[in-house]
Amino acid sequence: MEIEIIDFQKHGDERGGLVSLELDNNIPFDIKRVYYIFDTLSDVTRGKHAHKQLRQLTVAVKGSCRFLLDDGNEKMEIVLNCASQGLYIGPGVWREMSEFSSDCVLLVLADEIYDEDDYIRDYEQFLYSVNAKQS
Ligand code: TYD
Repeated sequence: MEIEIIDFQKHGDERGGLVSLELDNNIPFDIKRVYYIFDTLSDVTRGKHAHKQLRQLTVAVKGSCRFLLDDGNEKMEIVLNCASQGLYIGPGVWREMSEFSSDCVLLVLADEIYDEDDYIRDYEQFLYSVNAKQS
């Protein structure tokens, strides 16, 4: 599964925390888009899609949320709850986010601008695309 947990260097001191996200240092792609998800209700599940090409890196800069990750062959769950840790998700990984804490802010860096054609939003279609690649 094309995912990776990236631990960022912390530059914080007695005044508070600081993490820098920098191309060619700790971000494994050219950043073309940044968005953030916040004020998510606790009983909501977001995501429920995979991308054909897009690479993304997500940081819970505040609070926590649970990721279900699925490449069509195996599934895993990761809780993001640390502002100095990023979750890299490559193409072909189905993701669902749930159990958002009320203060959760998810920062997402992406290597492409928004393109609805890059989304696979139907799970059966996702499995079909995985099988088509494997055969
Ligand atoms: P959606 O894909 O449903 O979000 P999530 O995967 O977190 O559940 O996106 C919600 C809406 O926002 C949808 O209408 C598409 C739009 N959107 C943009 O316009 N630009 C973006 O960069 C993103 C991520 C979403």
